[in-house]
Amino acid sequence: MAHHNDTTEGTLGETSRRTFMKATGAATGVVVAGTGTAAAQTDVDAIIDELTLEQKAAQMTQVAISSFEPEPSESNVPDNFGVDTVGEYFSDLGVGSILSGGAEPPSFQASDVVEGVNDLQEYNLNNSDHGIPFLYGVDATHGNVLLEGATAFPQRMNMGATRDPDLIAEAERHTSDATASMGAHWTFAPTTDLQRDPRWGRFFEGISEDPKLTGDISRVRADALEDDDRLTACVKHFAAYSTPNNGNDRAPVDTSLRDLRTNVMPPYRDALESEPGTVMVNSGAVNGKPAHASHWLLTRMLRDHYGFEGVVVSDWDDLNRMITNHDYAPDFRTATKEAINAGVDMYMIGNGGSAPGPVQYVDTVVSLVEDGEIQMDRIDEAVRRILELKVDLGLFDQPTVDESRIGQRLGGAADTAEQLARESLVLLKNDDGALPISSQDDVLLTGPGVDSNGNNTRALMQHGGWTLGWQGASAGGPYPRQNLLTDALRDRVANLTHVPTAYDNTGWWAGQGDGPDQQTDENGNFDFTESQRQRVEDAAPDADAVVVVLGEGTHNEGFGDRDELVLDEAQQDLLDTVVSAVDDSTQVVGVFLAGSPRGSPETFSKLDAALFAGQPGSDGGPAIADTLVGEYNPSGKLAFSWPENVGTAPVQYNRYDPTSTGATDNTPMFEFGHGLSYTDFTYESVSVTPPTVGNPANRSEVTVTVEVRNSGEMAGEHVVELYNTQSYGSVLQPIRRLLGYERVSLDAGERTTVEVTADLRALEVVPGDVLALGPKVVEAGEYELTVGQGGPTTTLTVQNTASITDPDPVPGSADAQSSTARSQDPTMEDVVDLLKEARRSS
Ligand code: BGC
Repeated sequence: MAHHNDTTEGTLGETSRRTFMKATGAATGVVVAGTGTAAAQTDVDAIIDELTLEQKAAQMTQVAISSFEPEPSESNVPDNFGVDTVGEYFSDLGVGSILSGGAEPPSFQASDVVEGVNDLQEYNLNNSDHGIPFLYGVDATHGNVLLEGATAFPQRMNMGATRDPDLIAEAERHTSDATASMGAHWTFAPTTDLQRDPRWGRFFEGISEDPKLTGDISRVRADALEDDDRLTACVKHFAAYSTPNNGNDRAPVDTSLRDLRTNVMPPYRDALESEPGTVMVNSGAVNGKPAHASHWLLTRMLRDHYGFEGVVVSDWDDLNRMITNHDYAPDFRTATKEAINAGVDMYMIGNGGSAPGPVQYVDTVVSLVEDGEIQMDRIDEAVRRILELKVDLGLFDQPTVDESRIGQRLGGAADTAEQLARESLVLLKNDDGALPISSQDDVLLTGPGVDSNGNNTRALMQHGGWTLGWQGASAGGPYPRQNLLTDALRDRVANLTHVPTAYDNTGWWAGQGDGPDQQTDENGNFDFTESQRQRVEDAAPDADAVVVVLGEGTHNEGFGDRDELVLDEAQQDLLDTVVSAVDDSTQVVGVFLAGSPRGSPETFSKLDAALFAGQPGSDGGPAIADTLVGEYNPSGKLAFSWPENVGTAPVQYNRYDPTSTGATDNTPMFEFGHGLSYTDFTYESVSVTPPTVGNPANRSEVTVTVEVRNSGEMAGEHVVELYNTQSYGSVLQPIRRLLGYERVSLDAGERTTVEVTADLRALEVVPGDVLALGPKVVEAGEYELTVGQGGPTTTLTVQNTASITDPDPVPGSADAQSSTARSQDPTMEDVVDLLKEARRSS
């Protein structure tokens, strides 16, 4: 295609460009006085007036780059993208944003990245016709894990197990600083999707299956990730991405409006309370509508109901995926029109080859506006949001970043990372005090993925995906900063024998054997060779304890989807070999490094103790070793329910009764909230203040007070949890639901009074018949409150039914009753229906 600048009438000329740059300070580096809203508004309006339609469409474009080099000798962009070089994204198009997807920047070296981004920004300012700074987005999802030597915080599933929002906020403040220091302006985090289906390859990215816990942690993450003024967060993937019917990534979800409103949407709502700059759209479809084409999700709910004012970005190539994945849109023009009219402000374009590139996108938008199929106001609205974000981030004032900063941040916050890792470890099983291991013991450590020696036994299992690469770090590194279990355990016991077994994560997704892109249910290629077997058989009988690492390899997105949760055969073989080689005097301890609940009841029956370590990140090694030897007393609690097998999933703890009828027992193997300690905690004298709430709309919290005693012999941390366990209402009530939690630390024998805030929003239900369109309310009635699992109870009385979060009939309920359901403008009939519905519900 022809270069846009050459052919477009009304392109900003030299004079206006200079005028604009002067007004914003970009040309002189002078900080604009008063970047308050009024000043920002004035500038932004002036810019919008100056931009051509093509330039506006280009601002609505984000494109993935695989190089920071603007003018290489050979093309460094995909063939079909209509330009030849990364530089031409700016000089020819003037795109609004670039990204490095998959936690994979063009280089993993900090100085390359920061210098590369700065140079590219300068190139953009000097060569684009408008001189507007670009936004650079990355996936800093568990730390700024895009650089060699960076601190990898524990993955999201680990964060949920800590129940420690304050510590998570501390970690994310470091992420914010470290990501902004690298020159990025935007992290595609937090992931706020409920964690429900362990078949889904992104299960490890969820905080919890519980909406309150997910909401609490997502709110603090969204807030702390914006701690640095130059970084914006992204609540994703709006909405209902994580509950695909078939357990596969980017697949349709069918769910009830009741489940959506009660469980699925609240975590996004909570995260949006911190007013993040951006939201990313769900790549799947909800109740038959691709989320990217859903006006209800992206405008009625997100804008009108939740009041979100920032930028909505599509997910990777997702306009195109309406054609290729969902078979919904016949062509790219239809997909683009539907997405922008539904509420997408910016299109994230991957660099994967055959999908439409930025030139095609810009041309399509221009033609849709010219043909009246997208209104100019809608374009201006999107561009205004994008420019306001750039103003808020200070990019016009200071488009580049101080290159010396990142060196001081890289690999920092180690204490926070280690403490977070410790708190996230869940002791699933500990028969007859098998753990802790004595520091005097002879220990055999075996299994895959816990050291960095050799090609086949890399230390990858502690990090997971989005770690120096989309599917996790590659063979041979580079790696984030990492402390390994092998070294940490060797330092803590009298004698350590280490027999690593083979693990290779490259072949399983890059294609192996004859077939392309083969993936396995095991999430990795594991092996247990004859010589490894021999060494295990030799060492095991003399060991006081055998620590067997089990689990799965690093994975991500669709390549991580699995139909089974049983362990890989080589690992089963390893465990059987260990069990046959030892007698009762040797403890067999399983350490699970995995992003999903791996292992069958049979697996667990063979272990004396089992520690679920998830993907604990940089400091997983010392955190696990300290826990195994009792230098740390485990305190993590499962944030999801662990099914016995795939046939019973999903089986989240806040399900409705009954769980098991007929021949099968669907009870989870380990329940949400399960997590053992080396000491015992007992509860007494529980009470609630006030015991009666007149109107929950006026009082959304009560305080539950309980005496907690460490009645065992070791100091320890403990999470006191408060559940509603019994109540009756006009619709089904969940078996249990979490209302609050508090982490405490007690010496052996110590007792203390703990106050837990009970969040009554978690009691809201959507009354009414199947459609569930009315206001969401806490219904009048008596609510049994239970401390812990099966602990003491007290009763809260709610006198009046009232709504705390959702007093209006569901937005768009008029659509549901209108014959013109596809139209976005309510008819008079809709309004009348809405009023009737409101009256009925009040
Ligand atoms: C994922 C997003 C991610 C984006 C950029 C997509 O494939 O779904 O979560 O932010 O890629 O890497």
